[in-house]
Amino acid sequence: MPSERQAYVYVQLPGTLDTVPAALLKVEQLRDGTYVGRFRYGDRYLERKDAVAFDSFQLPLGDTVQEFTKLKGIPGAVRDAGPDAWGRRVIEHKLQRSPRDLEEIDYLLNGPQDGAGNLSVGATLDAPKAGRRHNRTHQLADLIEAAEAIEEGKRVPVHILEQLEPGTSMGGARPKATIEDGNRLWLGKFPGKGDRCNLQRVEYATSELARRCGITVCNSRLESVAGHEALMVERFDREHTEGGYLRFGLVSGLTMLDCEDSHVDRVRWSYPLLADELRRWSDKPDGDRVELFRRVVFNAAVTNNDDHPRNHAVLRTKRGWLLTPAYDLVPAPLVSLERRDLAMTIGTYGRTASIYNLLSQCEQFGLTTEAARKEIENVVTTVHTWREHFRACGVSAKDIEYMAQAFLPECFFFEKPPEE
Ligand SMILES: Nc1ncnc2c1ncn2[C@@H]1O[C@H](COP(=O)(O)OP(=O)(O)O)[C@@H](O)[C@H]1O
Ligand SMILES: [Mg+2]
Repeated sequence: MPSERQAYVYVQLPGTLDTVPAALLKVEQLRDGTYVGRFRYGDRYLERKDAVAFDSFQLPLGDTVQEFTKLKGIPGAVRDAGPDAWGRRVIEHKLQRSPRDLEEIDYLLNGPQDGAGNLSVGATLDAPKAGRRHNRTHQLADLIEAAEAIEEGKRVPVHILEQLEPGTSMGGARPKATIEDGNRLWLGKFPGKGDRCNLQRVEYATSELARRCGITVCNSRLESVAGHEALMVERFDREHTEGGYLRFGLVSGLTMLDCEDSHVDRVRWSYPLLADELRRWSDKPDGDRVELFRRVVFNAAVTNNDDHPRNHAVLRTKRGWLLTPAYDLVPAPLVSLERRDLAMTIGTYGRTASIYNLLSQCEQFGLTTEAARKEIENVVTTVHTWREHFRACGVSAKDIEYMAQAFLPECFFFEKPPEE
């Protein structure tokens, strides 16, 4: 049966605490099961002097109806405010519904008002009043316990689920929640079921290693709670001000590249294309492209192969759109020594994480081969020290051994593609 559902999209205006209705999204499911989304900014919103486009390229301000067929009819910038794997599980759990019975728009409507970026979604024209308080650090133990229970499919009391809500639209697959500590908001990342090692500590150490490579990363720290550790990553899309938090617009790499979510359709999952997009998105296009190149080199050097387009984003800062600090940097201890692939195309030789491929399209990042080689050399010199660094970050000897295969494998150093 063809059906149409709708949702209002609200935006917290830049530099203010005002959340206003901005657009209406209608999503129709066609007889063949595909979707078409129709998005229109509201006239009252368009009349505002301070109205901003959610995405200047794919959702420019204007009173026409803009149609979308990818991502089940949801425009990328709106989808970026919605939940991902983990948030979906919390919502399914809370509604006691199976994913089969839920539409994309249900997830958006049941997501919290406090997701990534500055957009939120609701069923009524007026944005719901900002309600609940943020979780505080002393609630971490309860939150971790609830996250565990959800992963095990156990029932979790509704009041605890509500506490997990501000994390639900943060995207990503790992259990998490937003925590307020002093005047800052943090993304708390919890242990996951079936983790082979203390991934929170490994992620912490990896992100500090990236910082030492000259990459801009989020502030983060570890928090011990009841025999577990939570990784606390400071949220870059919020800023405290008297009376509340300012919110900054966020658009993921997936939206910038205008592509689908799944591995099946990842032709456009590409770093050189993302670098190209930065030329028009970023207010610091040269700096951001070099920064992106450094991140690709780092991901290759530590086999962070979960570097899909949602793990990259730009943020609407006071100085315009800029690449966000790097996040979700986790090495994968693969065994292969002959070839490693990242999630996105790196150069002429596809996703292969080797020097010849890293150099093959370095000009897309604004770098000469010589400059790109320097970047690679710098990253390699620092990543060589990973063991001492991980030890100093308190990663256990066992976890260091477990992770060892991820770092600077032989194939990283290949200067030419292997003979067929
Ligand atoms: N420091 C941060 N501030 C704001 N948003 C963030 C931050 N780190 C991550 N995010 C957002 O939250 C999502 C999930 O975080 P991520 O670290 O990728 O978790 P996971 O390991 O589950 O994938 C990201 O895709 C990004 O949109
Ligand atoms: Mg992620």
